[in-house]
Amino acid sequence: MAGIEIAPHDRVFVLTGAGISAESGLPTFRAEDGLWAGYRVEDVCTPDAWLCNTAEVWAFYAGRRAQDAKALPNPAHFALAALEAQLGERFFLCTQNVDDLHERAGSVRVVHMHGELAKSRCERDCGRDPVEDHAIYASLADVPRCPCGGRMRPHIVFFGEIPLEMDRVQDEIARATLMLVVGTSGSVYPAASFVHWARQHGARTVYIGPEPPLNAAAFTQVVEGKAGEVMPGLFVVRS
Ligand code: APR
Ligand code: ZN
Repeated sequence: MAGIEIAPHDRVFVLTGAGISAESGLPTFRAEDGLWAGYRVEDVCTPDAWLCNTAEVWAFYAGRRAQDAKALPNPAHFALAALEAQLGERFFLCTQNVDDLHERAGSVRVVHMHGELAKSRCERDCGRDPVEDHAIYASLADVPRCPCGGRMRPHIVFFGEIPLEMDRVQDEIARATLMLVVGTSGSVYPAASFVHWARQHGARTVYIGPEPPLNAAAFTQVVEGKAGEVMPGLFVVRS
């Protein structure tokens, strides 16, 4: 397979989805029956579910924290960290994933547009920053409260909430000349629009994954395969 050439003037924007962590043993969302450990994400990851079914929401994220703690980065995460090491500030990574496998592989310029499993924050807009939290709460009674009295919630963007750091993401997409999208079905917005935004700015757009995403027509190239198998050695960085 021909490599993906990266010229000295190129700026690379990477978007990753659940597929990049599949080979690390973390399930994707829309595979086969569309269930995540017995849950439909659309049922658990919403502001309404948080209000009405708080214990179930925490149980879901406790389960995901436990899975994440056992998972290890795979060759695809390492390939992106190595590319960042070569490109420095010409590289930017936006992930829809809430796991920390990119960071554990060595990536530094990472934005988690859908939040992070390893953090919690106050359910009220009380102005306090999210805090690091790896705890796996056995029951709702164990979930701590913020100093303001609000309950702590997972630092996760629920369906219907606005993704994080979108201004910065839009700026980075506007300057990118190459967009790489890895392991995402192209079914959740605004992430599914990023490829169109990049095209509007004239960027090359490459998708990497075992099957074409819903927005496949917007890519200039599709590299078919499992990310962990095709990404090591895929990038040819010219100096
Ligand atoms: N390598 C690359 N891609 C893979 C691999 C692999 N080894 N295995 C599966 N995939 C691809 C699938 O082909 C699919 O297109 O990963 C994609 C996973 O799609 P989804 O399960 O829909 O996950 P994602 O696109 O990340 O979901 C977006 O939806 O539930 C929300 O907030 C959650 O961030 C998530 C968002
Ligand atoms: Zn608070």
